[in-house]
Amino acid sequence: MHTAAAVFLACLPLALQALPFAASPESWSSRDIPTNNREARQAAHLAITYLNYRSGSPHQLLEVAEVKKATLKFVPEIGHKYYVEFTARVSQTMENIGFCTATIFFQEEKPRPAINVNCSSTKIQKQASDDDYNFYKLMKSQTVPITGENIPDSFGFIEPQLEPVWNLAKLGSSYVIWDKTTEGHEYNMQQIKSVKQVLRKDNLIAFDYDLFLYERPSEELVSCSIHVVWIPGKPPKVDYNCSEDSENGSGNKSDDGSAFLGNFK
Ligand SMILES: *[C@@H]1O[C@H](CO)[C@@H](O)[C@H](O)[C@H]1NC(C)=O
Ligand SMILES: *[C@@H]1O[C@H](CO)[C@@H](O)[C@H](O)[C@H]1NC(C)=O
Ligand SMILES: *[C@@H]1O[C@H](CO)[C@@H](O)[C@H](O)[C@H]1NC(C)=O
Ligand SMILES: *[C@@H]1O[C@H](CO)[C@@H](O)[C@H](O)[C@H]1NC(C)=O
Repeated sequence: MHTAAAVFLACLPLALQALPFAASPESWSSRDIPTNNREARQAAHLAITYLNYRSGSPHQLLEVAEVKKATLKFVPEIGHKYYVEFTARVSQTMENIGFCTATIFFQEEKPRPAINVNCSSTKIQKQASDDDYNFYKLMKSQTVPITGENIPDSFGFIEPQLEPVWNLAKLGSSYVIWDKTTEGHEYNMQQIKSVKQVLRKDNLIAFDYDLFLYERPSEELVSCSIHVVWIPGKPPKVDYNCSEDSENGSGNKSDDGSAFLGNFK
């Protein structure tokens, strides 16, 4: 409890500190939640998704192995703050990378929760950083853009030479997922409909993806166009549009302001 409270105080946004004393942290209700419930798993999954985006290595994507502890704190008029402890592993090798703690703060129904996550080891392993660099060099040497469709295909198969292109899509969509997630809406990358490399003269590589995110609890597919620009060792630059209308995945909704989103400056 002490750790959670300390972490919580360290992350208080300014608006919160300005609250009158009546709403002192002690009076905010905090409770343990079962580690296997949806909210606990979503919080841990989101923390690791955010960590993947920040680490910037398509060949070392992490996933949650097991949630060990989860607490939920209600912050009046502001939102819900989750604290989770979990173990994580590298998706590609299933190798355990240790223990993580994270806070995920959802401010009412606003997307892009505030996330703070620490894992005992997040160093990019030698093999992954070599694979990142080799993929980058190969893409840089293309004179004809790489293209692909339906990755994975309907049998769940990914052609080996497109595997890094898929992994880079996961890296790019980890930004999109963090940026779109609200407490009530959770996303996973489902399938690349089509991808085309964008050749660049500078030292970056870029791809345009049309892909599907799977949304829960509605279980609908959200169609997104994502432009990913990347260089090894750096988080990707991501620009995206998603259509919330699930009309066969090709809707066109712009009233949610999603016409121009991304972390491009
Ligand atoms: C992560 O580590 C930083 C620096 O040590 C610390 O300030 C922060 O509270 C930690 N966050 C979590 C969720 O453990
Ligand atoms: C998003 O939509 C805008 C406006 O239609 C377009 O100019 C931009 O290229 C789109 N971005 C992506 C990644 O598709
Ligand atoms: C969606 O699919 C249904 C049936 O498959 C079709 O009738 C409808 O016109 C489609 N809507 C759009 C917007 O494509
Ligand atoms: C989306 O809708 C707007 C107006 O509602 C239209 O101008 C635009 O061309 C549409 N875009 C696509 C890709 O259908």
